[in-house]
Amino acid sequence: MNVLLTGGAGYIGSHTAVELLNRGCDIVIADDYSNSSPVAVERIRQITGRDFPAYHVDVTDCEAVRRIFRENKIDCVIHFAGKKAVGESVEIPLSYYRTNLDAALTVLECMKEAGVSRFIFSSSATVYGSLNPIPYREDMPRGECSSPYGTTKAMIEKILEDACHADSTLSAVLLRYFNPIGAHPSGLIGEDPQGIPNNLLPYIAQVAVGRRERLMVFGDDYPTPDGTCVRDYIHVRDLAQAHLLALEYLDRGGESGPFNLGSGDGFSVKEIVETARKVTGKPIPATMKPRRPGDPPTLIASNHKAREVLGWVPQRGLEEIIADAWAWHQSHPNGYDG
Ligand code: UFG
Repeated sequence: MNVLLTGGAGYIGSHTAVELLNRGCDIVIADDYSNSSPVAVERIRQITGRDFPAYHVDVTDCEAVRRIFRENKIDCVIHFAGKKAVGESVEIPLSYYRTNLDAALTVLECMKEAGVSRFIFSSSATVYGSLNPIPYREDMPRGECSSPYGTTKAMIEKILEDACHADSTLSAVLLRYFNPIGAHPSGLIGEDPQGIPNNLLPYIAQVAVGRRERLMVFGDDYPTPDGTCVRDYIHVRDLAQAHLLALEYLDRGGESGPFNLGSGDGFSVKEIVETARKVTGKPIPATMKPRRPGDPPTLIASNHKAREVLGWVPQRGLEEIIADAWAWHQSHPNGYDG
């Protein structure tokens, strides 16, 4: 099985690449390195001891994507490529709609030309909107997303449903990620946000390594047990393994559709900070701040469908996740740059 990973040098893409190579799949990576590093590609080779083609391309470039399909016999595409900063998407929505929709459409059109019919899409819990009850289940309707980024995910899901409906040979799995954190235990690959991190764990890690002074906790007056937001954090390796199971599922003729990828458990921001203090042995000073616009109080997955249909069993608990993230951040305080 030869799998094309668009955005394969990114955070989730690189961890998925390792799992696929370790299980004997062949891969091809396509990445424009706009929010990732070619060093990640070298690290994937180092961890797995395997080689593979890596194309420095923007997947909105149809000719470049065509060339990848011409030069490689691809069986399935896992589409990670896209812009993903929630706050930035509110500021420059047109760029998000243009890039994310164009990338998905270009890859799908080139797949069709090349006769490739299996697609796995990096979607997000944000597609549930804010009106569905917790925990989110795949049979609930998509809702109004709180950001243009989220809306691009919901729109691509809809495009895929329509495309699968029109073409019975196309099958697409939509993987709805909750909050992926952690890193490969080798400490060689991990999350490397550009600029000031938007997400909680990278921010905490930068405080722990001394790059930033203190964490700002956005809101302690939410209707949650300790007043801070509750999220469903999942180890990026567990997440990566779900992609492999999704490939196997499509290979045995599985039906198109969405799958939640979350642990099914929720932790508050305060609980995460406490666990990070324990794991790192660092004080991690934190200051309460007003709520961040658009943050829902609680986000938790029902992962029954992924467990039952894909056979996915998330295996890593919070302390292990944070310890793996810490190993990466400690050895790479400036990400792949050193
Ligand atoms: N938080 C802080 N301080 C920070 C960063 C985050 O208190 O410096 C809080 C947030 O307010 C939130 C929690 O930590 O309550 C988690 O925030 P993240 O930014 O890490 O994650 P989100 O749940 O906001 O975002 C995730 C994904 C998005 C996806 C979204 C769906 O990163 O891709 O869930 O709601 F769109």
